Amino acid sequence: MLGQLRLLRAVVLAPYQQVRACKVVLIPREAPWKRATTGYAPSAVQCPPVLPTIRAGTTLSVNETSWLKARRLKTVWALRDFLSRANITGLDTNAYIGDGTDATTLPNIGIAISGGGYRAMMNGAGAIAAFDNRTTNSTGRGQLGGLLQASTYISGLSGGSWLVGSLYAQNFPSVQEVMAGASNDLGTLWQFSNSILKGPAELSVTQYYNNIFDDVNGKVAAGFNTTITDYWGRGLSYQFINASDGGKTLSSIANDTGFLAADSPMPIIIADERAPGQLMIPSNATIFEFNPWELGSYDPTTRAFAPLEFIGSNFSGGTLFDHETCISGFDNIGFVIGTSSSLFNTFYLQINNTDAPQRIKDSISHILLQIGQENNDISDWPNPFYGFHNETNINAASKTLSLVDGGEDLQNIPFHPLIQPLRDVDVIFAVDGSADTPAPGANWPNGTAVVATYRRSLFDSSDIGFPSVPDQNTFVNLGLNARPTFFGCNASNLTGPSPLIVYLPNVPYSYNSNVSTFDLSYNDSERNSIIQNGYNVATMGNSTFDFQWPTCVGCAILLRSFNRSRTAIPGVCTQCFNRYCWNGTANSTAPVPYQPTNLIKSNGSASLLNPISFTIAMVLGAWLILFM
Ligand SMILES: *[C@@H]1O[C@H](CO)[C@@H](O)[C@H](O)[C@H]1NC(C)=O
Ligand SMILES: *[C@@H]1O[C@H](CO)[C@@H](O)[C@H](O)[C@H]1NC(C)=O
Ligand SMILES: *[C@@H]1O[C@H](CO)[C@@H](O)[C@H](O)[C@H]1NC(C)=O
Ligand SMILES: *[C@@H]1O[C@H](CO)[C@@H](O)[C@H](O)[C@H]1NC(C)=O
Ligand SMILES: *[C@@H]1O[C@H](CO)[C@@H](O)[C@H](O)[C@H]1NC(C)=O
Ligand SMILES: *[C@@H]1O[C@H](CO)[C@@H](O)[C@H](O)[C@H]1NC(C)=O
Ligand SMILES: *[C@@H]1O[C@H](CO)[C@@H](O)[C@H](O)[C@H]1NC(C)=O
Ligand SMILES: *[C@@H]1O[C@H](CO)[C@@H](O)[C@H](O)[C@H]1NC(C)=O
Ligand SMILES: *[C@@H]1O[C@H](CO)[C@@H](O)[C@H](O)[C@H]1NC(C)=O
Ligand SMILES: *[C@@H]1O[C@H](CO)[C@@H](O)[C@H](O)[C@H]1NC(C)=O
Ligand SMILES: *[C@@H]1O[C@H](CO)[C@@H](O)[C@H](O)[C@H]1NC(C)=O
Ligand SMILES: *[C@@H]1O[C@H](CO)[C@@H](O)[C@H](O)[C@H]1NC(C)=O
Repeated sequence: MLGQLRLLRAVVLAPYQQVRACKVVLIPREAPWKRATTGYAPSAVQCPPVLPTIRAGTTLSVNETSWLKARRLKTVWALRDFLSRANITGLDTNAYIGDGTDATTLPNIGIAISGGGYRAMMNGAGAIAAFDNRTTNSTGRGQLGGLLQASTYISGLSGGSWLVGSLYAQNFPSVQEVMAGASNDLGTLWQFSNSILKGPAELSVTQYYNNIFDDVNGKVAAGFNTTITDYWGRGLSYQFINASDGGKTLSSIANDTGFLAADSPMPIIIADERAPGQLMIPSNATIFEFNPWELGSYDPTTRAFAPLEFIGSNFSGGTLFDHETCISGFDNIGFVIGTSSSLFNTFYLQINNTDAPQRIKDSISHILLQIGQENNDISDWPNPFYGFHNETNINAASKTLSLVDGGEDLQNIPFHPLIQPLRDVDVIFAVDGSADTPAPGANWPNGTAVVATYRRSLFDSSDIGFPSVPDQNTFVNLGLNARPTFFGCNASNLTGPSPLIVYLPNVPYSYNSNVSTFDLSYNDSERNSIIQNGYNVATMGNSTFDFQWPTCVGCAILLRSFNRSRTAIPGVCTQCFNRYCWNGTANSTAPVPYQPTNLIKSNGSASLLNPISFTIAMVLGAWLILFM
């Protein structure tokens, strides 16, 4: 998918010159300032009495640490509930977990939702619905409801960040509630039949683009640099955030009642850093995370965090240069998820194929022309790490921090924040909706994202570990991408301390959910089918393919805890590990093409290319014929 998008970029933008927009703007600095309550443009606010500063990323933030205490008091009961339903014969799970005060036994669960556009977003939504005890019937036999309530972290990247951002922007409703939107005030979310290039049904295309341009112009007028990602993020907001007024900031989540009460996992969204002048994102790129309190990185390069609420303030060498003015409102959720998915800006190349007014087509084309093909995936943030950690921070001398799509380093599953040793995660449920496999069975995952994180862990100079995993050919040959697979069962086969990985690749249970990354619109029935398929992936078809699947999930959650507390592994768990753990064998020969068919019932309806993807396919096809 990534390769295809890159190709597309190269093909369509080839005629454009490489001119980097460089606006010279001044931030007006008269006091007193009050931040407008909503709206897209950041604004100046009075600084808090204790001035915001940049901290070194050598510990978790005090905010996360204190929030985790509150979260543990919640997860312990959810976990006891979940494990009591998991039917782990031979283990009294209530007695084992106790009241949760014993950190040796209480497991710490993370969920990671991959990138891959709408496909990954919807597939991820199905998994979240399966894990959510609020979903109807999700706590019945063969189900996994309650896992979400028992989790500490949920990370999202690119398409996965759309899901995470969308749910947290609404105070964490269940996926089922969002899908039933018409009957509640979530009505206008996830209306994917209205392509992001056309906007919501309530607005004409002209009104839609006028609103987007007004918002972005407002940010410019307030003195900030903008990039194509600002337009993209505004578009995403209409689909995922429901915020025609600009929408809320990610830092405002920290004040949401549900989140303050630690009723939901902690959301983390990631993006990759791009060095000044760099074009391709290397596999060792610095990975930044956005969480409700901070933007920053634990990587040894930048290894620093900034208070998210005050991004845009004039930080220099870790402190505020201007001691009076703080900027707030830069971390608009639409802009954050736009940053994490910045590669998809490329969709605007199709602007001429929409019925947007000519003026808009001209403006967008002009923006694309200005930035040039090599830069159209970037999103510019004011650099809070200017002059901080000069020796290792590659952007230390730049006032701008360029962040790009979190999947550009091929690590398309956001493992990174969850494998930080500081976070002590025991198990990661890795929901993979990547498009890796080639035609004729295209757009299924083949382990590429897992392999990328494993390879990086081999060279990482910090203490990050990851389980050994085999190459993609082995994934396909052994069917490790065709059913859930556990990596890291054998604690001696890790590149360093690492959680157990429960890999949940997208597989067709009830629907061919391998829709193209280029499909930008889905009617409600397609949307629901893909989400339902994701539900079936997570539950193995309500455990019809293994009646012990919930037991095995419970065993996976407890494996690291068993090791820590030196508890004998229950027999039923040993059976599970024999079935689901990768046993270390490899078969790297070229596999026969992967062409899975529906596991539950065959579904004859082939997904037809929509006009936009058809255009892209034609362009790509022509390019391949001409140049390969
Ligand atoms: C984080 O914690 C610090 C110290 O308790 C506090 O001053 C600050 O307001 C918190 N930040 C947020 C965004 O809640
Ligand atoms: C879901 O789990 C939470 C946390 O354990 C619990 O408080 C709540 O009652 C459960 N809800 C349902 C519908 O089971
Ligand atoms: C629990 O698992 C055992 C096998 O270990 C099985 O015989 C029993 O039927 C299961 N009980 C339920 C309620 O699923
Ligand atoms: C929930 O389970 C009941 C009893 O099996 C069934 O009648 C009902 O249709 C199910 N509801 C959903 C939404 O699947
Ligand atoms: C805007 O971008 C230019 C060039 O990258 C930079 O010098 C300037 O500091 C930026 N301004 C703001 C407000 O971020
Ligand atoms: C959270 O609430 C506090 C107290 O009302 C306020 O000072 C702070 O700015 C809020 N934080 C965010 C990120 O909105
Ligand atoms: C990535 O690796 C290259 C080559 O080893 C090195 O020059 C570069 O500094 C590394 N970048 C980061 C961000 O670690
Ligand atoms: C849209 O069409 C105009 C006129 O044909 C052209 O100049 C422009 O480059 C096109 N825009 C894009 C994004 O392809
Ligand atoms: C770090 O870099 C900044 C920007 O280049 C510079 O102004 C500052 O003096 C440097 N600080 C140190 C401690 O070297
Ligand atoms: C796996 O996916 C990558 C792209 O992510 C692709 O280049 C490779 O050919 C695929 N291999 C197999 C065996 O599917
Ligand atoms: C893990 O096992 C595989 C297969 O046996 C082996 O190739 C790999 O080197 C081992 N890795 C570690 C870190 O022990
Ligand atoms: C699993 O249960 C859900 C909800 O009850 C249902 O919609 C779905 O069709 C079931 N899947 C299978 C494979 O039976």
